[in-house]
Amino acid sequence: MKRSTRIERLAEYYEDFAPDYVSTWKDIQHYDKLVRAFLREAVAGEARVLDAGCGPGHLTRDLPPSVDVVGFDIAEAMLAIARKKRPHGAYHQHDYHLPIPRAWGRFDVVLALGTLEFCDDLGLVLANLAGALRPGGRMLVSIVERRPHVRMHQRAARPLSDVELSGVSMYLYTFAEQTEAIQRAGLLPRSYRLHPGWRHTEYDVDVLYALWDLEAPRRSR
Ligand SMILES: C[S@@+](CC[C@H](N)C(=O)[O-])C[C@H]1O[C@@H](n2cnc3c(N)ncnc32)[C@H](O)[C@@H]1O
Repeated sequence: MKRSTRIERLAEYYEDFAPDYVSTWKDIQHYDKLVRAFLREAVAGEARVLDAGCGPGHLTRDLPPSVDVVGFDIAEAMLAIARKKRPHGAYHQHDYHLPIPRAWGRFDVVLALGTLEFCDDLGLVLANLAGALRPGGRMLVSIVERRPHVRMHQRAARPLSDVELSGVSMYLYTFAEQTEAIQRAGLLPRSYRLHPGWRHTEYDVDVLYALWDLEAPRRSR
C-alpha cells in the first residue's frame, strides 16, 4: 500500500479514537512515568518543546505555562483536543515523514513517543526531527525493537490490527537498524533502555520499546 494511503487510513483510525484515547491509553501503556521523569530533567524555564505524533497532547499539556509547546499529528481530532486542553500551545497537522517546517523554529526538546511504530523509514524520520533541534537539544523517542527470535517479531512490519485496520502496518527495527538510523540523523545517544511499551490486547503481547535519549551535536554540522 502507498505511504499516502496508509497515512490516510491511520489518520482516520486516530480521528475516531481521539475522544477515548487518553482513558484507553492509561490502562495499556507502560512508559508514562519515564517520559515525565525525562521532561522534569530536560525541560526548564522557557524551553521550546516539539511533541511529534502528539495525539491529544497529554504528555506535554501539563508543562509549565512558560514552556512553549508545539505539537503535531496527522489526526485533526487529536489536535482539536490538544488545543482545547492547552490553549496557549500550537498544534499542527503534519506527517513526520516530511521535514519539520522551518517556520516552527528550533526546539530544545523533541519527543516522539508511541508513534514511530508507524514510521516506514526510521533514518528519514529521525533526520526530520533532528533538523528541528537546536545544537545540544535533547530528543526522547520510542522505537519498537525487533528481536527476530521473539514471538510476533519474525517480520519487520506486521499489521497493527488484524480486525480493525486492514493494510496498516506497524514497523519494528532491530538494534542495528536503530543505531544506523540514529547515526544517519547525526544524533548522539545519551542512553538506551528496553522497556515494555504498551499492551497489544488483540495480540496479547507487550510491545517492546527501545527508549532512546538522544542529543544534537553542540557544534553546527
Ligand atoms: C499511539 S498515539 C501516541 C500519542 C502520544 N504520543 C502518546 O505517546 O500517547 C500515536 C499517534 O501518532 C500519530 N501518527 C501516526 N503516524 C503519524 C505520522 N506519520 N506523523 C505524525 N503523527 C502520526 C497518530 O495520529 C496518533 O495520534
